[in-house]
This record gives sequence, C-alpha cells and structure tokens, in this order.
Amino acid sequence: MAKSKVTVVGAGNVGGTTAQRLAERNYADVVLVDIVEGLPQGKALDILESGPVVGYDSNVIGTNDYADTAGSDVVVITSGSPRKPGMSRDDLLKTNQNIVSSVTEQVVAHSPDAILVVVANPLDAMCHVALETSGFPRERVVGMAGILDTARYRTFIARELEVSVRDVFALVLGGHGDTMVPLPSMATVGGVSITELLPEDRVEAIVQRTRQGGAEIVGLLGTGSAFYAPSAASVEMVDAILLDQKRILPCAAYLQGEYDLNDLFVGVPVKLGSAGIEAIQELDLSESEQAALRESAGDVQELVEVLHSS
Ligand code: NAI
Ligand code: 2OP
Repeated sequence: MAKSKVTVVGAGNVGGTTAQRLAERNYADVVLVDIVEGLPQGKALDILESGPVVGYDSNVIGTNDYADTAGSDVVVITSGSPRKPGMSRDDLLKTNQNIVSSVTEQVVAHSPDAILVVVANPLDAMCHVALETSGFPRERVVGMAGILDTARYRTFIARELEVSVRDVFALVLGGHGDTMVPLPSMATVGGVSITELLPEDRVEAIVQRTRQGGAEIVGLLGTGSAFYAPSAASVEMVDAILLDQKRILPCAAYLQGEYDLNDLFVGVPVKLGSAGIEAIQELDLSESEQAALRESAGDVQELVEVLHSS
C-alpha cells in the first residue's frame, strides 16, 4: 500500500521539526516547502539521511514548487513571518494573511482533497484565511493551538504536584492568545480535580503561566519562538487524521452555533479522524467559564475584522 503524503509548508523551526517528527513516524512521505531556495531541500535531505540510523524509510523531499505537493492527504501550514521591530500586531496580521492566502491557493490547486492543519500565527485568524481562501468545508480546516496550550498547562500542573504528566488531564479552550481559557474545573490528576489538590493562588498562577506560555519561551530564546512542543502538537493532529484515531483533542474549529458562537474559529474539543473534524464536543461550562470563552472569542473576532478591512 502506498504511503500517505503530508506536505509541510514553511521550512523554519516549526516546519523543519514537524517534517522530522513525521518522517520518524514512518507512515507518510513528507514534502517540505518554503519560499527560500535551498532551505527546504537542505533540511529534507538532512532528515532523509537520518533514516538509515533511526530506521525509517519515509521519503522526504524539499521543494519550492507546489507541483511536488500534489495529492497530499494533509498539509500543515507553518509559513509565517515573525513580528519585527516597529511592526504592529495588525501589520503582522496583514503580512501573514498574505502569506497564508497565497500558500493556501497553491496548496489547494494541487491537493483539492487535503485536510489543512493551520499553525501560522495569529492562529485563529490564519484559520479564517485558510478556510476562506480554500473554500473547503469547515471539517477540513483545523488549527493547532489547544494541544500546545494544554500541553503547557499539563506540564506546569505535573511539575507543581510532582507527578507524571501522563496522569494529568487538562483542557485549554478559546483563542491562541492572552485570553485563552485554561479550565481548572476540568484539570485532574489521577481523577482528582486540581482545585482539591492545590490552593487557589497556585491554580491561578499556573493558569497565568499557561496563558503566557508562548511569551515565556520567546523571552528565553531571545530570537524566535517555541518549536519543539508546537511541532509535537501538530504531529499529534496529523496522527489522528492519517491513522483515523478519532481522538478528542482541543483544536481551533470553525464554530457555527456551538458554544453559542458563530462563524468564528475558536479552540474547543473536536473529534479528529480521517475526515478531519468529525464532531465538535460541547462541554457543560460554568457561567464564568462561558464568559471567559466569550471574551477570548471576542479577541479573535477583532482580528477577523482587521483581516476583512482593506
Ligand atoms: P520560522 O521563521 O522559523 O519559519 C517560517 C518559515 O516560513 C520560514 O522558513 C520562511 O521562509 C517561510 N515562509 C515565509 N513566507 C512563505 C511563503 N510565502 N511560502 C512558503 N514559506 C514561507 O518560524 P517558526 O518558528 O517555524 O514559526 C512559524 C509560524 O508558526 C509563525 O507564524 C509562528 O508564530 C507560528 N507558531 C504557531 C504556534 C501555534 O501554537 N499555533 C506555535 C509556534 C509557532
Ligand atoms: C507559541 O505559543 C509562538 O504561538 C506560539 O509558542
């Protein structure tokens, strides 16, 4: 049986590590695309040459030509510009809007049946760009953020309580920004709520650290942003799709009435399988959690309005 095919657009930090993790899965051939000549080719060849040592035989190619991406099952879009000095948030939004829309056009022309996993920031707004440009049904455009934000939340809880991260269940909803919604009520360690295990001020500190998780890494790195955990999160989504795992994972999905939100990408638990988003799971949220989700959705809405302004 032919291997599946996954294209990763953007051969930077997130794209390069995503391609590496995918190749190591050995379930798909990988195409790495970038606008910079040589960069995707060099990284792809380096990943390919790791195969004999690591023990995978996925083919990995790097290219600047979308013809090589034809027939991809999944396309992960990581291409985006980082914020530069003097650039406003809105300037960055417009720059990445242009990048994501041009990339999406080219991807869709060669892989009309693909599922798009959007990673570029600002995440929820870029999902809108991919959905609108592709004309795909909402099931086939899904954003990566909730798994990453939840992974950070789980990490901080596990470190605080000195337990394995594997025994921490948690969930972060909302947009991928400062008003994201880490839910203490749904965070449990071995089935016990963290609100019973930790005093309120420690829970609040963990929630705040989660909200600032991306900025914490940016501050430490000095240049660039996180990529190990983001690529791991992106690949967990590709696993769920290619292997039809039907995982329930927090992802950015286009809501049409769910959670009383309309025509907006917001992070919520979804069932992810071979058809993409196969269902959106609605949770019974408290009043304050609903209010926090509305606030976060309001922030996404503001960005979407900037996208739609000329
Ligand atoms: P990076 O700067 O290392 O890589 C970006 C790559 O995109 C560069 O190689 C650049 O040449 C390429 N690129 C730019 N325009 C392109 C175009 N038109 N076509 C093809 N490639 C193009 O950045 P990094 O660290 O890999 O991050 C990528 C994006 O992912 C950023 O927008 C970042 O903010 C976002 N991100 C999102 C996360 C999330 O949770 N959703 C987590 C981490 C990063
Ligand atoms: C992060 O959360 C930069 O969005 C990216 O690390």
